[in-house]
Formats: sequence, C-alpha cells, structure tokens
Amino acid sequence: MDLINVIQERRSVRAFKPDPVPRQTIEEILRLAIHAPSAINLQPCEFTAVMGEERERLSRRLIKAYREKQISCGPGNVKPLPKTVGKRGAKTLLMMNPFFKEMGVDSSKFINEGSCNFYGAPVAVILCLDDSFSKGGLVDIGITLGYFVLAAHALGLGTCPIGLITAYGDEIKEELNIPENKDVVVGIAVGYPDTGSPINRFRSPRDEMEKVTRWIE
Ligand SMILES: Cc1cc2nc3c(=O)[nH]c(=O)nc-3n(C[C@H](O)[C@H](O)[C@H](O)COP(=O)(O)O)c2cc1C
Repeated sequence: MDLINVIQERRSVRAFKPDPVPRQTIEEILRLAIHAPSAINLQPCEFTAVMGEERERLSRRLIKAYREKQISCGPGNVKPLPKTVGKRGAKTLLMMNPFFKEMGVDSSKFINEGSCNFYGAPVAVILCLDDSFSKGGLVDIGITLGYFVLAAHALGLGTCPIGLITAYGDEIKEELNIPENKDVVVGIAVGYPDTGSPINRFRSPRDEMEKVTRWIE
C-alpha cells in the first residue's frame, strides 16, 4: 500500500472484532516500527505486547483503577492550553457526539472505560521509556508510535493510541512485571476494525496547513 494513502486513510479505531491477531503479524508491525529514527540512534522505546487472557486481566485492572481514581482522558497540560488548541479538542468531541447517540452510549464512559479496555482490541502494546531519559526521549517514543500505527494500517489492522492508561502506570507495571524505573508513555490498541460500529465512521477534523504554519522566507 502506498505510504501517502496509508497516511491519508489511517484513523483511530474505537471498536474491534474479537478475532485474535496472529503473533507473527504483531511481530511484523514491531519490526517496521523499530525503523523509526531516534536521537543518537538510542532506540529507547521498550514494547510490551499483551494478548489473550493477560490482556483481559490488564483491562479489568485498569477499569477498576479508573473507577476508583476517576482520572479521565485529557491533555494533561501543566498550564492552560492556548485557546485555539483547546477548541480543537472540544470540536472533536462535539463531532463525536452523534455517533455516541447512535450507539446509545454515554460518551465519557465509552471513551474512558473504552480506553482502559483498549476498546475491546485483542492486543494491547505498551510503550515504555527508561526513567533516566529527559523529556526529549518522549519524541522518540512518539515517532515510534507514528510508525507503528501506520505499519499496522498498511497490514490491514486498526489501532488507537491510548494515553489515558499512563494515569495508571503503577497498576500496569505491577500487572505486567515492568520494572519500577520504566515510565509507561502510551499504549496502543491493535486489532481488526469492527467496520459495523458507528464510531469507526467518525473522522476527526484537522485545521488547514496554512493555519498551523508560519513561513519565513
Ligand atoms: C499520544 C496519544 C494519546 C491518545 N490517547 C487516547 C486515549 O486515551 N483514548 C482515545 O480514545 N484516543 C486516544 N488518542 C487518539 C486521539 O484522540 C486521536 O489520534 C485524535 O483524535 C485524532 O484522530 P485520528 O487518530 O482518528 O486521526 C490518543 C492519541 C495520541 C497520539
């Protein structure tokens, strides 16, 4: 599949078929994702791929932690966001509402508990960074995430990055035996998209390139 098509077509998938994904397919995606560039080629991204009953157990733990702590999906900003940026998030949520209505679900429950459940995907991949890194290491993880979701799409799989779970990093580390000195940066739900689910018809908007670019010539 042409890279430009992959970039244009990929969308976050929030409903998956229960069909298992062969481990070889996940291995293929990971082999592609590790082609991502990284500063000084340090390749800091550490993956944990979770499938089967272990994936179910992880979700049960995360949903329990979410119900206890009530930390929801949010940008996690340290200062108030610029107005233009905040508006984009609000607009996206507003545009999702008709799909939630069609499905008869509560939007907050769908997104927050859905994220903790990796939206029912049969595979969850957790991306970690050693805590010796500065914030710069997060750039490398972000690029790897980008490669991962595009590679998965090219191989016919759907993905959704799951940042919410970082609020429950301790629970994840305990459940998956991830050492204390690793930071959970992001998760990825991976599986075959449920094309019949209304939420998978949702297309998130983008501001025009001209709006987000300054030219200095
Ligand atoms: C770092 C990161 C964290 C994200 N966390 C979540 C999440 O916890 N739950 C969720 O439903 N979507 C999550 N998303 C998906 C975004 O909402 C989505 O990428 C955005 O709305 C743009 O839509 P698109 O991926 O369909 O193009 C995350 C995306 C990124 C890049």
